[in-house]
Amino acid sequence: MTRTSMSASELRALLEQGRPVQIIDIRRNDDRDWMIPGSDAVDAYDAVNAGQLGGLGDVVFDSRPAVVVCGHGQTARRATELLRARGVHALSLEGGMHAWSTTWNMASTTIGGCELIQVRRTGKGCLSYIVAADGAAAVIDASLAPEVYVRLLQRSGWSLVAVVDTHIHADHLSRSRQLAATAGAPLYLPANDRVRFDFRPLADLDRIPVGAYGLVAWHTPGHTAESTTYVLDDLAAFTGDTLFVDGVGRPDLDGDESQMRPRATVLHRSVHQLLQLPPATRLLPGHAAAPVPFDNVLVSSTIEAAQGMPLLGMTESEFVTATTEHLQPPPRNNSLITTANELGEWPRDAEDLEAGANRCAVS
Ligand SMILES: [Fe+2]
Repeated sequence: MTRTSMSASELRALLEQGRPVQIIDIRRNDDRDWMIPGSDAVDAYDAVNAGQLGGLGDVVFDSRPAVVVCGHGQTARRATELLRARGVHALSLEGGMHAWSTTWNMASTTIGGCELIQVRRTGKGCLSYIVAADGAAAVIDASLAPEVYVRLLQRSGWSLVAVVDTHIHADHLSRSRQLAATAGAPLYLPANDRVRFDFRPLADLDRIPVGAYGLVAWHTPGHTAESTTYVLDDLAAFTGDTLFVDGVGRPDLDGDESQMRPRATVLHRSVHQLLQLPPATRLLPGHAAAPVPFDNVLVSSTIEAAQGMPLLGMTESEFVTATTEHLQPPPRNNSLITTANELGEWPRDAEDLEAGANRCAVS
């Protein structure tokens, strides 16, 4: 029988192999704040649900396999039925963007004597890292199932010596606790009194050895009170949601609005502290601003490039205004996700909780 749908992992494989594929996203405009890299937006959602092709009628289908995407897969399935009636064979993405949420790709490089793998949740743009030296490895900000990291570690023959988070995340469920338990590795978190499970607390300037190298915890509060940057021997800085390639972490996700401006002041100090690192230090953030392509290109910057960011050229009071006014809505379900990360409990509706864009940055 001719196939009418494709799974998220099948689409991932096509993109990873660089195979041609036409991806047509028919979600409503409001829902398109996260997407599959390379997808085209077509206005057809309401039309399809009314039995019409809408904008799909104007799409030129070529020889590439075509995949229609919606939020959960149902409307896309209807769309492909309508297209088949017109003689166009397109597949729907099973489970839609919800199923795509944990799809990942990676980029790898070497920095100094260290191996680095950036593991990216391509839709949400969450960036996690494996940093390895002398056969020992640390994982930073695990946002995917433990097996993903375990397999990558095994493939390179690295042993996991540390699992760390830069902060208590509000936009995705941290997998660091699960990974540490699965791999029998210690879990380090910035010192805080919010998390309700056992971890090794890191104070400012504590050092986690990774082979002959080390990750030094720089307490860089502002996005959250405990936010910490891990500095790899002046080679690289894993900045979490404190400093991005083209923005900084928003200071309003801790719930207490009265603390937003004081926190923005602290954030200003933290990001300027990071600018004191050597200019060539690689900046490795916790999020990308856009869907991450399957291109093996690291999402990163340098401290020197960050110095040119308009936000970082502002006075303290300009910065506080820019990072606290006219913010976009917070990430979906951010308080539920934060609570789950504090309790270390895995919610039953994890996929639903996490679906949606990252909105942790101000740029
Ligand atoms: Fe965050």
